[in-house]
Amino acid sequence: MRIGVLHPGEMGVCVAQALAEAGHQPCWVSQGRSPMTRRRAGAFQEFKSLPELLNDVQALISVCPPDAALKMAQSVMLLGYRGIYVDANAIAPATALQIAALVGGGFVDGGIIGPPARRADTTRLYLCGPEAEQVASWFEGSLLAVICLPERETQVAASALKMAYAAYTKGTAALLLSVNALAQALDVEHALAAEWAQSQPNLASLSQQVATGTGPKAWRFEGEMYEIAQTYADADLPPQFHQAAAEVFSRMATLKERSAPDLASVIQQLLAAR
Ligand SMILES: NC(=O)c1ccc[n+]([C@@H]2O[C@H](COP(=O)([O-])OP(=O)(O)OC[C@H]3O[C@@H](n4cnc5c(N)ncnc54)[C@H](OP(=O)(O)O)[C@@H]3O)[C@@H](O)[C@H]2O)c1
Repeated sequence: MRIGVLHPGEMGVCVAQALAEAGHQPCWVSQGRSPMTRRRAGAFQEFKSLPELLNDVQALISVCPPDAALKMAQSVMLLGYRGIYVDANAIAPATALQIAALVGGGFVDGGIIGPPARRADTTRLYLCGPEAEQVASWFEGSLLAVICLPERETQVAASALKMAYAAYTKGTAALLLSVNALAQALDVEHALAAEWAQSQPNLASLSQQVATGTGPKAWRFEGEMYEIAQTYADADLPPQFHQAAAEVFSRMATLKERSAPDLASVIQQLLAAR
């Protein structure tokens, strides 16, 4: 099958690679994309524009920043697309339902957990919806494991799962980085380091790892935190924790182009925005 991947970012290119490993032809749109995306997607079939791609593909998978997911679906549906549309983004169930309403019967809800799949058993694409099994079959034999969730209360269980999972992983990352910034702001960072060495011996190295791992992606995490906050609010649970996490990641957005920023650089960004 020819399957459009919108767009081949760090994760999108792994989804495209998995489709290619399974014998399909991944396609992408170069219009508006950065040199980085163009370089990553070089091995796949390029279309200059979205209308050209839509004329030729049999299915689409959306893998883009969470705050762009709804707009992406709108652009596609405005062009009259009628095939299968998998939204694999980290979005709130409410956002996924808005996309489902736009797309109609071809909608498949998705959520990806794990790093970009470069080896087996690291990364899972969760799917939910009437066409989920069919979409799962497109990845057979690839490095991306696919798990279909039953449609019980909701047809967007994959998005719900992704929100619950990332609420912890990214929420705790934001909390830990903000604790480091707080200690520095209050001039107790050395005392905190000494106390951690005794009572929480993993937190100093974890802080460094989290700073390096999240710094370059923080610009994208801001939108994801708002999706999680929305998910909490819709479940009548407090959304403020992840609203604050969004603010933490927003302050780190300038680290987008930096490779492997250290904890000191992250703290500097968090404190500079005061
Ligand atoms: N990376 C991971 O480890 C990971 C893990 C689990 C789930 N995911 C999910 O995968 C999705 C994408 O993540 P990623 O890591 O691939 O991000 P990424 O590396 O930042 O790539 C995002 C892609 O979307 C494009 N893009 C940027 N702004 C856009 C916009 N406003 N509208 C449409 N497309 C836009 C980018 O193109 P240009 O840069 O060329 O503009 C790029 O090709 C997210 O929903 C995320 O939650 C990622």
